[in-house]
Amino acid sequence: MCGIVGYIGPKEKKEILLEGLQELEYRGYDSAGIAVIEGNKLHDYKAIGKLENLREKTKAYKSEGFGISIGHTRWATHGKPTELNAHPHLGAYSYVVHNGIIENYQELKTELQNEGVTFLSQTDTETIVHLFEKYYNVSNDSFPAFEKTIKRLEGAYATLLITEAAPDIIFFAKNGSPMLVGFDKDEVYFASSDTPVIGKATEVYYLEDGEYGYVHEGKVHLFDKNGSKSFTTQTLSADKILAQKDGYRFFMEKEIYEQSRVMSETMMGRVLDDAIAFDELDENFFEGISAIKICACGTSYHSALTSAYLFERIAKVRCDVEIASEFRYKDPLLTQDTLFITISQSGETADTLEALKMAKRAGLRSLSICNVDNSSIVRESDAAILTRAGIEKGVASTKAFATQTMVLWMLALYVGQEKDTVSKEILKTEIGAMLHTPKALIVTDKLHEKLHRLSKRYLHGHGFFFIGRDIFFPLALEGALKLKEISYLHAEGYPAGEMKHGPIALADSELFTIALMPKTMHYDKIKSNVEELSARDATILAISPEPFDLADDFIQTTYDSHPMLEFFEMMVVTQLLALEISVRLGNDVDMPRNLAKSVTVE
Ligand code: M6R
Repeated sequence: MCGIVGYIGPKEKKEILLEGLQELEYRGYDSAGIAVIEGNKLHDYKAIGKLENLREKTKAYKSEGFGISIGHTRWATHGKPTELNAHPHLGAYSYVVHNGIIENYQELKTELQNEGVTFLSQTDTETIVHLFEKYYNVSNDSFPAFEKTIKRLEGAYATLLITEAAPDIIFFAKNGSPMLVGFDKDEVYFASSDTPVIGKATEVYYLEDGEYGYVHEGKVHLFDKNGSKSFTTQTLSADKILAQKDGYRFFMEKEIYEQSRVMSETMMGRVLDDAIAFDELDENFFEGISAIKICACGTSYHSALTSAYLFERIAKVRCDVEIASEFRYKDPLLTQDTLFITISQSGETADTLEALKMAKRAGLRSLSICNVDNSSIVRESDAAILTRAGIEKGVASTKAFATQTMVLWMLALYVGQEKDTVSKEILKTEIGAMLHTPKALIVTDKLHEKLHRLSKRYLHGHGFFFIGRDIFFPLALEGALKLKEISYLHAEGYPAGEMKHGPIALADSELFTIALMPKTMHYDKIKSNVEELSARDATILAISPEPFDLADDFIQTTYDSHPMLEFFEMMVVTQLLALEISVRLGNDVDMPRNLAKSVTVE
């Protein structure tokens, strides 16, 4: 949610900022802006909408010589996506960019307004720059003024500030929103995640909550509440090539096709011949644990729901799943025998992170399942299992969901092993199925073409129901979410057996039903549920290994021996269906309206 970049050094700053923002655009694309100070000259540019608008606006500008610079791509929280609300925000002689929410901004704003400050925007961020100038005007000393400013802020922030009062310094602070510092010789970079600095910085330092400071002459001066502190950098090893589109039309498409490969990586070293191993977990990690609670949001929540069936069925451990934003405010009853699991692609989702902090305060053991190493959720957890999906850029999550579900399936078996609830035969069958998963995820041209063709029928109508039973119910929820996010069509996931308790009233030929009909799980039951809908004229797209005459459209899947293989194969079908419908509607698949890749505000 919002991306920030900063650079201090001799290179052309506009390009560095724009390239960095391009990498972060998935975090928000309501507006973008940059500010540069070279010598004593200040330049700033802002544009609403996607980054290409800012690129166009800055075409004629080139920054030459040593200087300092900051940039921002916005996902609007306070104030509409207008140019005035775009960052960087200007005071009288300073600029600020910010990711997060200043919770006490109204109080600060009133204080400043009473002292005669005029605000140009409706954002919470603008208070930072005016507060800084208020303190600087009194002390004439920039760092103490910045330090005083930071101490007044409540809420989440990653912020960069530059000022004509100190034209060779970038001030920074982090609390609750991600930010790292990158280094290459005497050049220093800032970014919300490592993708903007890959290929530029060789070493990075991931700032911790409560840290702040400034960069001057290539040196970072770092502080926290106890004063000045030292830090150790780490080598940046990620491979940028892997984050490009590789000839696919969209990142989402590339990520759907990648699922087969990344799944093998998720299993590597963990799925052994006759056992599941997690080096990440201490031998006695599950000692004293008799229940599991999982918290997550969006797609990650759907993988959690899937796993609840598996934990109870395979490991015989009670498992509850909660939406993180609900969990936070319900005064949950937490007992020490409960393992608290959070699931997150980004590791930065504010609601999930706060739920984790609550569980920790209650003394629960915590485990995160996450795709981003060093993310806030990983660092906050007692243990973490990385999903190894690689960088996911499409806002609509695909390979993250697949790998999360795989990790959870493995974990259910692992817990079963630890608690002695799975027999050798079951372990063998499950492992055999796991090893087939990469094959079940292969996208064939035939399938993709068929979905492209039949997607034409599904562009108009009054809504979609994705229906399934058991683990195929969370998959139905996920299929509906994918479609909603990128097609803007109304879709609901529903337990198939529940349709007759109300929603079937909506059935007519304009109601599209996507029926997940696995052979290995309650086939006859779901078949009657679909027949009931068909009898009421609903248009049916059936996905099943079993031919189904009543379907208006039919996708025949190939796996019919294990529910999880059917699950993964059907997952791919629903992802491609959403993609093809979105493309036909002319939508921006990778950056759907109103969304951002990681939601770091509550
Ligand atoms: O990074 P997280 O997994 O914590 O994100 C949770 C949700 O915001 C995310 O899954 C969202 O629902 C996606 N846009 C789904 O495609």
